[in-house]
Amino acid sequence: MTNNENVRRITIFDTTLRDGEQAPGCSMNPQEKLEVAKRLEKLGVDIMEAGFPASSPGDLESVKTIAGVIRNCTVAGLCRSREKDIDAGREALARAVSPRLHIFLATSPIHMEYKLKMTADQVVEQAAAAVKYAKKFCSDVEFSAEDASRSDPDFVCRVFGAAIAAGATTVNIPDTVGYAMPNEFGGLVRYIKEHTPGGEKVKFSVHVHNDLGLAVANSLAAIQNGADQIECTINGIGERAGNASLEEIVMALRVRKDYLHIDTRLDTTQIYGTSRLVSQVTGVKVQPNKAIVGDNAFAHEAGIHQHGVLANRATYEIMTPESVGISKNQMVLGKHSGRHAFEDRLKDLGLSVDAQTLETVFAEFKNLADKKKVVSDRDIEALVMGASASVPETWKLDHWAVNTGSALGASGTIRLQHRDGTFQKLVSMGDGPIDSIFKAINQIIGKEPELELYELGAITGGSASQGETMVKISYQGRHWNGRGVSTDVVESSIKAYISAINAMEWELTPLASGQEGAAQK
Ligand code: KIV
Ligand code: ZN
Repeated sequence: MTNNENVRRITIFDTTLRDGEQAPGCSMNPQEKLEVAKRLEKLGVDIMEAGFPASSPGDLESVKTIAGVIRNCTVAGLCRSREKDIDAGREALARAVSPRLHIFLATSPIHMEYKLKMTADQVVEQAAAAVKYAKKFCSDVEFSAEDASRSDPDFVCRVFGAAIAAGATTVNIPDTVGYAMPNEFGGLVRYIKEHTPGGEKVKFSVHVHNDLGLAVANSLAAIQNGADQIECTINGIGERAGNASLEEIVMALRVRKDYLHIDTRLDTTQIYGTSRLVSQVTGVKVQPNKAIVGDNAFAHEAGIHQHGVLANRATYEIMTPESVGISKNQMVLGKHSGRHAFEDRLKDLGLSVDAQTLETVFAEFKNLADKKKVVSDRDIEALVMGASASVPETWKLDHWAVNTGSALGASGTIRLQHRDGTFQKLVSMGDGPIDSIFKAINQIIGKEPELELYELGAITGGSASQGETMVKISYQGRHWNGRGVSTDVVESSIKAYISAINAMEWELTPLASGQEGAAQK
C-alpha cells in the first residue's frame, strides 16, 4: 500500500473549453460553456482553459463570463505570441480570482519555415518578448512550444530558457500532432526538464494529441518522467483525433497509485456527470466501449463474468462505477415518486439546479412518468439538460401536426410563439414529416439555416424510451447545436431544431454577446 506522503500530486489543466471546443462539431454556446466551466470547477480541475479570447469577440465574452464566475480554480486564456492577443487575454481574465495567460509559439523546423516564416533566433526573441509583455499584467504565465515533439530538443530548451528568463512560470511541451511514442516522449520530457536553463524554477507541462491513439499513454509516460502538469479534455474531445482524455488519465493515476505514486486532487465521483454534460452540449456521443465513461465500461455481458461479479465485484472490476460517479441506485422512479425522491436522485447524479429550474424539471418529470412506467437516470439527466443549459427562447413550440404516408408527400403544421408574445402558424410540404416541419419553421423565422447534422437516438432501450435528437445547423458561416427530447420522435426533432434556432437567434442578436447574456447568470 502507498503511504500518502510518498504520493506526488500533479496538476490537471483542462482544455475542454478551448482545444476541445475548437474541434469540428464540438462548438458550445456561451451558456453551455459556463455550465461546463461550473462542472469542471466542481470536478476539481486545477486550471481550466476557458478559450482563446483573441479568436473572436464571442470567445472573449465567454472567457470573461467564466472568469467572473469561477472561484476555485485558475482560469487560463490562450494567446498567440502577439501583444494584441495578450491584450484580449488580459481583458478577458480581468475578473478572474486566479488568472493565467497561456502564450504559444511553434518551435519545429516545419512550423517555423512554412507557417511562421521566422528564423530560430526570431522565435526565441518573440517568445521572450511575448512572455515579458504578458508578465506586466499577470504573474502566472505559461509558455507552450507548439509542435515540441517534432522540434530539436536543444532548441526547445533554448526557447524555454528565454521564456523563463522573461517570467514564464510554467513551460509546456505539446505533442501537437500526436506523433510521439510513449518511451520517446517520456525521454524528451526528462531531457528538456534537465537541460532547460532555469527549469528548476518552473512547472513542466505536457499537452498531447491522440492521432495515433497514444495521448493517454504519452501523458502517463511524461508524468513518470517528471511532468508536473497534464493538459487534457473531458471525453478526449479536441482537434482531429482529440486530446488526452482527462478521465482516463485521472483514473489511471487513482487506480494505480500503488504503482505510480502519483495522484490528482480531483473528485472522481464528478467524472461521469461532467462527461455526460460535455457530450450533451456538444452533441458528440461517447463511444460505448470508451474507458471509464462509455456505456459498456462497467457492463458485464458474459455469463462467467456476471457470475464472478455477483460473487465479488473485484473479479472483473478494477474500480467501482460509483468511484467515477455512475449511480447504481436501483430505486425506480415513476409516477408515484415524490419531489423528495426526485431531488435525492438529482443529488446522486451530481446535478444541481436552482429552485426555478427544479420546478420546471419536476413538472416535466411528472409528465414523462405519466407516459413511461419507469423514468431512468438518463431521462432525468436529459430533462435537466434541456431546462438548464439553454439560451433565452426567441421561439417556443406551441403545437405541431404532421400528415404523412407512403403514397402522399408529407405536410407539417407548426405554431410557434415569439418572445414578444405573438403566435405564428404555418403549413409546409416536404420530403417527409421532419423536412416539412423544418421548412415551415424556416419560413416563420425568415432564415434558411443549413442542417448539417440530424441524429436521432433513444435515451434508453425499449419502445417506451424517449427519443433524443441532436441537430447542428449553420448560417452565415457560424454553427449551432440543438438537442431535443420527447417520447415522440417528431417532437424531439422539432425541439432540437428550435433549440438550435434559438441559439442562433440569440447569438445574432446584438445584445446577446454582451451585457444581457452575462447579467442573466
Ligand atoms: O496542440 C497544441 O500544440 C496546442 C497548443 C496551443 C498548446 O493546442
Ligand atoms: Zn492542442
